[in-house]
Amino acid sequence: MTPVAAVRPETRQQLDLLYAPIREELARVEQILKAELRSDHPFVDELVKHGFRLGGKRLRPALLLLAAQACGRVTKDHHVLAAVVEMIHTATLVHDDVLDEAAMRRHLETVNARWDNQASVLLGDFLFTHSFYLASTLETTYACQVIGRATNIVCEGELRQIDSRAKYSLTEAEYLGIIEAKTAELTACSCLLGAHYAGADKQLTAAMGRYGRALGIAFQIVDDLLDLEGDEATTGKSLGTDLEQQKPTLPLIRLLEQVSASEKPSILEILTRSGNHRREALQPWFTQCDALGYARTRAEEFATQARAEIAQLPESAAKMVLEGLTYFVVARQQ
Ligand code: IPE
Ligand code: IPE
Ligand code: MG
Ligand code: MG
Ligand code: MG
Repeated sequence: MTPVAAVRPETRQQLDLLYAPIREELARVEQILKAELRSDHPFVDELVKHGFRLGGKRLRPALLLLAAQACGRVTKDHHVLAAVVEMIHTATLVHDDVLDEAAMRRHLETVNARWDNQASVLLGDFLFTHSFYLASTLETTYACQVIGRATNIVCEGELRQIDSRAKYSLTEAEYLGIIEAKTAELTACSCLLGAHYAGADKQLTAAMGRYGRALGIAFQIVDDLLDLEGDEATTGKSLGTDLEQQKPTLPLIRLLEQVSASEKPSILEILTRSGNHRREALQPWFTQCDALGYARTRAEEFATQARAEIAQLPESAAKMVLEGLTYFVVARQQ
């Protein structure tokens, strides 16, 4: 068998190949999502189905199932929990697209673009509340506790990001704190739940959580790179919104740290000017300081950290996929 880690997936198609050991499990999760995400009211039904129509990468459910398989066995509870984390993730995306005024998501119009912000707020609420209802159908309350706390931290992260708007003095440590909350908390929670419900001991469950956290941080650093240099047709979502929303992401933070005091005003002028040519105007500066390269290296470091956390797992197909995902999050174009 070709070692999965050697595949170094970059595209959605390669990601699907990587998911091979959990293909049937993921299909079961899709069935649950399909059965749960519906309404007797045609308008609500259309809205609810919209976000799930083409599907995203299903990274969080995949992490949950892989952690379970790598630590023990996938059970019915895992299928439900995988659907729960995907619903929570999608709820955060629906709300995020309002915050970022984005027009495209998962190769479709966003809910806010096709309908409006009011529909988006309520659809996000529908998905959040439904996910907690579903989590509460499990026999134990542990999942509800963990997911409730994680979702709270995700929302806190998005709020902290609003507070960082146009604050170009934001430090790398502050930025990392924000992305850990808004993105890595849910990937950590997914891995932790997968391991816990597979019967892993405390030590291994914690290590799986740390794997998910480091992976999530790498994932968001790359997401922020894609926002600056990615291609909308490939990612299937609006890009450039970080600059539009005046979000200081890692490449910008690095750039502002590297340039001289006399150069800084020129960059701040680009960041605050009107119009939408900021991305192009910043390119020469990014090149001068290799700020994009720096951010990529930081993402690689977090991915390496994630790999180290799972080194202790016994060899298995699921472990190889978890390793493969540490390469995917850095190399991904979508
Ligand atoms: C997008 O997540 C939001 C971020 C945390 C960057 P994904 O890139 O996993 O979105 P989908 O689920 O594949 O659409
Ligand atoms: C969103 O980050 C992270 C969430 C927790 C929703 P982004 O705003 O960068 O995500 P995209 O780029 O719109 O997917
Ligand atoms: Mg966004
Ligand atoms: Mg956002
Ligand atoms: Mg983004």
